[in-house]
Amino acid sequence: MVRSHHSIFCFLWSVLANQLGCDGKVMMEYIGATGVPVKFDSVPIDDGLDFHFLLGFAIDADPSGNPRDGVFSPYWESTLTPDSVASIKQKHPNVKVLASLSGWSLGPKVLRWRDPKDAETWISNAFSSLKSLAKTYHLDGIDIDYENFPKHGNSSFAYCIGELITLLKNQSVISTATVAPYHLTTGPYIELFNGYKDVIDYVNHQFYTDKFMTPKGYLEAFQLRASQFDKDKLLPSYEVDGRGIQGDAFFDSLNLLQENGFKIDGIMIFSADRSLSDGFHYERKSQEFLLNSTGV
Ligand SMILES: *[C@@H]1O[C@H](CO)[C@@H](O)[C@H](O)[C@H]1NC(C)=O
Ligand SMILES: *[C@@H]1O[C@H](CO)[C@@H](O)[C@H](O)[C@H]1NC(C)=O
Ligand SMILES: *[C@@H]1O[C@H](CO)[C@@H](O)[C@H](O)[C@H]1NC(C)=O
Repeated sequence: MVRSHHSIFCFLWSVLANQLGCDGKVMMEYIGATGVPVKFDSVPIDDGLDFHFLLGFAIDADPSGNPRDGVFSPYWESTLTPDSVASIKQKHPNVKVLASLSGWSLGPKVLRWRDPKDAETWISNAFSSLKSLAKTYHLDGIDIDYENFPKHGNSSFAYCIGELITLLKNQSVISTATVAPYHLTTGPYIELFNGYKDVIDYVNHQFYTDKFMTPKGYLEAFQLRASQFDKDKLLPSYEVDGRGIQGDAFFDSLNLLQENGFKIDGIMIFSADRSLSDGFHYERKSQEFLLNSTGV
């Protein structure tokens, strides 16, 4: 009873907050990247917050991993069909679905950002292919997850991606854009963020790659990333069955972040694929945490 009033309150608050242009609470969940036949319907979704699925992955390469100059194709799990996207969004109006771009690898081939011969051609190809993908799959946004970069420091990554997001938003193809740096890629992502922060909604930093195993370590990592990006756009993250802090110590870390003055407006989890076998414990508990800590 109390809980359902609370959810309705949060739902109304998030509607109001969105209209006011502030951000409500958000849950981010990667899905479909690891070959597990996972479906949206299996994931517990609380209607009291915004729920963003990040489809892994849309890749600007052919099936053998050869670059296609900005032409993106979907490589996420085939259970995640256009109809299933439409259906989950209809059941839960608080759901948005984003295509995450690139990821670590395609099959055995490690993917990397390659400076295109002509940046404008890459941007134009990326814009049209993602526009078409967004239409087919009813997408709301993109997440940037390139994970390997040229050694030289003057890559055109920040320019190409920043201009792409700007154009997709300007033409109302997408409403949301997020970025997903990890501990070895903060350089190019800081450059992107510094140039284009107005069009970047959230930073899904992969804290599990910082590999801190205690709440105190997590706090130190968060303080560092908050100084590199914008603390109000930075989300704590958790890798199910993965690296970094594991188990309920993650929630101790979130409490410690709050005690140190950080507002926790969202959480990113990798991934639904792995949670399928444990009943989505961390997704449930993360949403409970976010709803518990709604302070108005
Ligand atoms: C980076 O700088 C090197 C050396 O000045 C230049 O040859 C290269 O074309 C530059 N690359 C980009 C993407 O600007
Ligand atoms: C798109 O860009 C044009 C030109 O800069 C600008 O006038 C317009 O307001 C922008 N539209 C949106 C929706 O951002
Ligand atoms: C949410 O609040 C309830 C009641 O105070 C508490 O029992 C529960 O542990 C909290 N959950 C999380 C994930 O913090």
